[in-house]
Amino acid sequence: MEDAEKKDLQNTVLKKLEEVETIENSESLETEFNIDHDKLESILKSLVVDFYIELQPIKRQEIRLTEEGQECAEKGTPEFRIFNLLEPGVETEKVDFHNTHGIEITKQIISKLKLNKWANLGKSSVTRLEGVEAVDSDRAILEEMLADPTPTKYDNKKVKELKNRKLIKFASITSYTITKGVDFAPEVVEREAELTIDLLRNDEYKNKIFKKFNVLAKGIEIDGGHLHPLLKVRTLVRDIFFEMGFEEMETGQYVESSFWNFDALFQPQQHPARDAHDTFFIDEPKYTKEVPADYMERVKNTHEKGGYGSIGYDYDWSEDEAKKNILRTHTTGVSSKVLYKLGQQEKFEPKKYFSIDRVFRNETLDATHLAEFHQVEGVVADYNIGLSNLIEMFKVFFKKIGIDKLKFKPAYNPYTEPSLEIFGYHPKLGKYVEIGNSGVFRPEMLRPMGLPENVNVLGWGLGLERPTMIYYGIDNIRELFGHQADMKKTKSNSVCYMSTKDK
Ligand code: PHE
Repeated sequence: MEDAEKKDLQNTVLKKLEEVETIENSESLETEFNIDHDKLESILKSLVVDFYIELQPIKRQEIRLTEEGQECAEKGTPEFRIFNLLEPGVETEKVDFHNTHGIEITKQIISKLKLNKWANLGKSSVTRLEGVEAVDSDRAILEEMLADPTPTKYDNKKVKELKNRKLIKFASITSYTITKGVDFAPEVVEREAELTIDLLRNDEYKNKIFKKFNVLAKGIEIDGGHLHPLLKVRTLVRDIFFEMGFEEMETGQYVESSFWNFDALFQPQQHPARDAHDTFFIDEPKYTKEVPADYMERVKNTHEKGGYGSIGYDYDWSEDEAKKNILRTHTTGVSSKVLYKLGQQEKFEPKKYFSIDRVFRNETLDATHLAEFHQVEGVVADYNIGLSNLIEMFKVFFKKIGIDKLKFKPAYNPYTEPSLEIFGYHPKLGKYVEIGNSGVFRPEMLRPMGLPENVNVLGWGLGLERPTMIYYGIDNIRELFGHQADMKKTKSNSVCYMSTKDK
């Protein structure tokens, strides 16, 4: 808008307001002075900023014809056009009709033809009834709506039907009641925005009118950082562990030696999980520098010959294989180091540990799997504990994350016996889903670490991505993690409270 035009329009509004005191609805200005709606709106807002006027919004809905609705208003509804193209009494195959006229007889049209009693329908054919006069009443309504878009003028049911058919939609229209503001004048006056040195120097400011500060003006929106959904859920799970008296393990290293990730866990060197298909091996540096020598010897012996009531695996254990660096495949590779340290203490002390961090597996990528993901792991070491303690722990832990119905299935891990797969009832999905893996660590793993004979260690692990995806209704992992992650969702996601009652 040119400055002159703007000033003219501003003055038009002010003059009118001076005359009538209150303008009930700004739409009257649109018709009286032939001002376009958007232009008027920007003029009114500019007058508000300088306190000439005050606005009270009036909101209402208007019917707008969609492109399809527009077409119906011009040419008639599709059912009416089809009716006209069909010959009375002649059965026509729908496919043939489509081929000749290029109009598809959709399910919606079929139900309309039936409802209007315009045609008989076979499985694949349509026959126009004889002696029927069709009146395209929907077209007539659409035409009326073009002339008068007030929704309340029309039958509610009809409006809903046309909206469902996507022939019309609603538009929200805002107009205003206009009243005089604190600085009203019948004409816009030049107002100084700033008190400058020049104005002060020769008292010129005394003859000037100044703009008022608009203390209600909105500031620039500050866009701060937002926590990633995985971080929100991680925070929740961490708090639960702290609440239950667990200590957090140090997980800040992604590269681990095969020794701590596998060998210390009594996982044989030929185990399929150690294959390059499942594990990422590091080229440089290829080998870890140090592993405690005496402990490594005990691990080697246990693998080869057994001990602590075990016969071992009976193979030649290779130090070279054990020292190979890898990206850790599970957080249990961290737990093994922590448990070894615990076993090295002079006097054993019961401990509860947890970790939540990233692990890596050389998996085929799909909608729910990536080659890196996060694991949550809990480990409890105490005198004479076992399976019943483990199950009791799960009841407490999983209830806190909102899962209160659990089922267990026997499983196999090289480092635990017995081992349990954990299934939790998911209220949103209405079924039990696998949520974790667990077990009582084997003596073949714990005794070489130096842990006393009557000490048992329980452990369990679960993924972080899955509960997060379920909680935030994300069904493709790429929307959660990596460069395709949906920033809008990240910004708007609620804080995570994973209770069953919540959602
Ligand atoms: N490491 C196991 C996994 O990756 C989880 C687990 C942890 C199982 C501790 C038993 C004990 O699935």
